[in-house]
Amino acid sequence: MKKQIQIAIDGPAAAGKSTIAKKTAELLGYTYVDTGAMYRAITYKALQQNIDLLDEDKLTALLKETIIELKPSPEGQLVFLDQVAVTDEIRSKEVTSSVSAVAAHATLREEMVKRQMQMGKNGSIVMDGRDIGTHVLKDAELKIFMSASVEERANRRYLENQNRGIETNLEELKQEIALRDKLDSERQASPLIQAEDAIYIDTTLLTVDEVSNKIMQLAKERMS
Ligand code: DC
Repeated sequence: MKKQIQIAIDGPAAAGKSTIAKKTAELLGYTYVDTGAMYRAITYKALQQNIDLLDEDKLTALLKETIIELKPSPEGQLVFLDQVAVTDEIRSKEVTSSVSAVAAHATLREEMVKRQMQMGKNGSIVMDGRDIGTHVLKDAELKIFMSASVEERANRRYLENQNRGIETNLEELKQEIALRDKLDSERQASPLIQAEDAIYIDTTLLTVDEVSNKIMQLAKERMS
């Protein structure tokens, strides 16, 4: 019998984590959890309510009374905030530029991590984020740390936006990604770092299929 494993995928913004995590989950019949969407959802709610994004206590209290649900669908993962669909809203420019500040709060992260541990506890899960291998699924059988050059990540985001009909500026995207890397890596609470037992994959020169095949091969080894 195949073991039901936990797969943790971490890495910086726009490294292709969600594409790969989604694909891996599909191929294995596992549940996919995009933890970044959870931080985005609470950021969206805080912006709607005009809450000071530096007020850790208020934001943590807000999260504690908020229901965030992730539901799979043929079009990808749907995100619900207190039963309302916010899948597209949480990808707005405003949320993207504010989410690092919200995700920097230690007590808010504690609550998020608790929820994510609960989601992953039965295995058969692929979870992506920044602290999955280091805090959320510390015993995951497979931990991946994915990255790519800032230029490549900006290029990919640019093309992705273009496909969605959103016009963006490549230079601006580069700057935004570099700034988010800095904020996510330098924050005190669970900064973005590679877990000691994670496998590093530089995806700069690899296609989605190449990365996916590599991860599937590793997953199958860990499942047997
Ligand atoms: O992966 P993303 O761009 O959707 O993530 C949004 C933000 O949330 C990102 O700037 C860092 C933060 N984040 C985090 O701190 N920990 C996670 N496990 C996932 C995301």
